Amino acid sequence: MRIRELNVNEEPPIDLLLLADPSRKLIGEYLNRGICYVAENNKEIIGVYVLLPTRPVTIELVNIAVSEIEQGKGIGKLLVMDAIQKSKAKGYKTIEVGTGNSSIGQLALYQKCGFRITGVDSDFFLRHYEDKIFENGIWCRDMIRMSQELI
Ligand code: COA
Repeated sequence: MRIRELNVNEEPPIDLLLLADPSRKLIGEYLNRGICYVAENNKEIIGVYVLLPTRPVTIELVNIAVSEIEQGKGIGKLLVMDAIQKSKAKGYKTIEVGTGNSSIGQLALYQKCGFRITGVDSDFFLRHYEDKIFENGIWCRDMIRMSQELI
């Protein structure tokens, strides 16, 4: 598997990006300002993540997804670790990520990769998404904010 930056003239893998974020509008906004990385296996794109600089020394992992048939094989963890390494190499001091209160697996994954919970953006998903989101039988309303220092 190879992880590389998306070329300027290349279409972003929208189906993968939509697995992580149902809002095409928000995806379009952060793709414009961020850097999109893709993971490929024999020229087939099987994973994606997007890093968005938010403050002078802070960067946010705003989207990460692995194609459904490749999930559960450790690729997501490799992508998160790659995002952390790249952010450190670019000189950022802090990396942040946010996920829904209902995203149990993602909360586990980020903590296994060194992120700590820093706060809760209450009602984030009610403010930014028209449709109700349910995962694991839980109504997704709040954004759990997480971060880690890059030392
Ligand atoms: N409890 C405990 N650990 C859990 C868990 C749970 N309910 N669900 C997942 N994990 C752990 C796994 O055990 C694994 O840790 P390990 O290596 O120590 O066993 C880790 O989380 C991630 O597993 P991995 O196989 O690397 O993940 P993946 O390749 O399936 O990718 C996602 C993870 C989230 C990127 C992938 O499932 C995906 O694309 N989901 C849809 C999009 C999405 O939700 N993106 C994130 C938006 S915030």
